[in-house]
Amino acid sequence: MAKRIICAGNWKMHKGPEEAEVFFRELRRLADVEFHSDLVIFPSTVNLTVARGMLSDTQIGWGGQNCYFEAQGAFTGETSPQVLAQMGASHCLVGHSERRQIFGETDSQCAKKVAALQRFGVTPVLCLGESLSERQEGLTDKVIIAQLENGLHEVDWEKPLWLAYEPVWAIGTGQVASAEQAGAAHRVLRQTMINMVGEKCARSIPILYGGSVKPENSRAIGLEAEVDGFLVGGASLNPEIFLSIYLNARAIQ
Ligand code: PGA
Repeated sequence: MAKRIICAGNWKMHKGPEEAEVFFRELRRLADVEFHSDLVIFPSTVNLTVARGMLSDTQIGWGGQNCYFEAQGAFTGETSPQVLAQMGASHCLVGHSERRQIFGETDSQCAKKVAALQRFGVTPVLCLGESLSERQEGLTDKVIIAQLENGLHEVDWEKPLWLAYEPVWAIGTGQVASAEQAGAAHRVLRQTMINMVGEKCARSIPILYGGSVKPENSRAIGLEAEVDGFLVGGASLNPEIFLSIYLNARAIQ
């Protein structure tokens, strides 16, 4: 059976509401209904209502780039996982490397966010990956295994969960991991989950690759057995380019 390929777009802090609306209209026009459920968009929080208005009658997923782990309360500036669920969000990123590096997010905060999102029925997408110096020191496997185990400390294995392997040195740099590098890291993550929860459950969890994914490189990376799709930053801002990433990888499955 052909492998499913998922393509998720992380807009980061780009696009205003009008631009978001134009993007969603174009995406709906260009994307075949048949593969809507393989697509997910993570707009900035202020554009979530636009996503809801434009996508809620489709199978295209959408959700937050971050959230807090409490449902409500005096947490100025934070986004509630409960409210994400009430809005109809399907997914939410957790522990993106920019959250970890710029905002000091820790593995234990990620673990709480994963659990909170699952509690409210939103699929968490736990992001992890090594820095350049960690890779150069041969610490890649050790770092990603620790991020995985600690980030999933409170996970409910019976509820949906996605992972995104994003080597920090490949994010926004144009320096994409080779298919071999991505494949090797994904195998480590899959095996670690098999050890944690068993073969059947571990194989049901999609592992996306992220870091300078483009239409030109999605085909080779998507051929790796343990790569289930992509988390795309810069190249997700244009609907045609975003869809080409998906279609190029899907064509070879
Ligand atoms: P990039 O970002 O595709 O621009 O490298 C990926 C990400 O941060 O998710």
